[in-house]
Amino acid sequence: MLDRLEPQAPDALLALIKMYAQDPREDKIDLGVGVYRTNDGATPVFRAIKQAEQRLVDTQDSKSYLGPEGDKQFVDALKPYIFGSDKGTNDRIEGMQTPGGTGAVRLAVALAQQAGIERIHMGVPSWPNHAQILGDVGVETAPFDHASKDGSADLAAVLDAIANARETDAILLHGCCHNPTGVDYTNEQWDAIAQALTDHGVLPIIDVAYQGLGHGLEEDAYGVRRVLASVPEALVAYSCDKNFGLYRDRVGAFYIMAAKPDQIEAILSNANALARANWSMPPDHGGAAVRTVLHDDELTAAWLAEVEDMRTRMRKVRNRLAAADSEVPSLNLAALAEQNGLFAVLALSKDQIAQLREDHGIYMAGSGRINVAGLHEGNTDRFIAALAEVTRD
Ligand code: LMR
Repeated sequence: MLDRLEPQAPDALLALIKMYAQDPREDKIDLGVGVYRTNDGATPVFRAIKQAEQRLVDTQDSKSYLGPEGDKQFVDALKPYIFGSDKGTNDRIEGMQTPGGTGAVRLAVALAQQAGIERIHMGVPSWPNHAQILGDVGVETAPFDHASKDGSADLAAVLDAIANARETDAILLHGCCHNPTGVDYTNEQWDAIAQALTDHGVLPIIDVAYQGLGHGLEEDAYGVRRVLASVPEALVAYSCDKNFGLYRDRVGAFYIMAAKPDQIEAILSNANALARANWSMPPDHGGAAVRTVLHDDELTAAWLAEVEDMRTRMRKVRNRLAAADSEVPSLNLAALAEQNGLFAVLALSKDQIAQLREDHGIYMAGSGRINVAGLHEGNTDRFIAALAEVTRD
């Protein structure tokens, strides 16, 4: 039976990690997978997380099962950061822990399907795994353009998708720091999107994977809070992998906002059953570390300072690239200063991307997506010079 299976191409982004690791050049530059790097090119464990982990080692007295919903205190401790303090909304929101943001997106899509959703509108380009999850769950994808050519978000396209949605449609939106483009909706655009979702009764699924890496934890929550204040129901997928630096520990949460508080239990029981069939229970360690940080004022302050350092450094890199706009006239580097988070897409051809990799040891996704955190004071000038060279003609 098993030899009937056709070989599958490896995930392009994950294959890039391997290719980079095998490149012996000392001055190679990794702009591939979305992990934050310091000015020295390291991805250290957050200091606040290290301390929280030490406390867990010292005090944890059991690793017995928690259940499909995972660590409820972790899930609840995140809530004010994501949803703010509005009581009317918060009384209708409940969540559960998931294996990473991916687990949360998967749960959101599967739950939506269980509730009757057949098709999900999605701005493209998007994180490649979004389309894979939709396909795997068996929900149709209806693509619309996420960004305009000038490097800003295409509001008309998203409003058009919402206005033309069928009763059995939902829409998947990135809460902030759009992956791969870095192009976010402005607050005014979120206002219009929230109104349109309400007017047309379309279920939003909001993926928040990079909160705090754009303009700040509060600022980056504008979209999700604005939409949830307006619509009756919503699903939110959340990742702590980037803003707590917990990538491989797979730390995520999934929240539902019900129309009425007394509907929450039934909705969550469906999510619980889906989680049980998929992964049974989420891994505990990373969520427990986040909970430990958020239950302690000193560790929380240390965490907030670390997130601010990340954000400030990435803003600096973005501004440096934007200042080089005239050196690489074909790429609109100036737009990067207005964009947010780890990513930006450069309008490079496949050949130019290959040339950057082969001739200059510069690794980026095949879509032209770069992880700006892979750049620092020691390699940015070389990167800009290489871009200028491959785009010269
Ligand atoms: C990325 O887009 O690079 C990250 O979200 C990592 C991943 O799982 O793809």
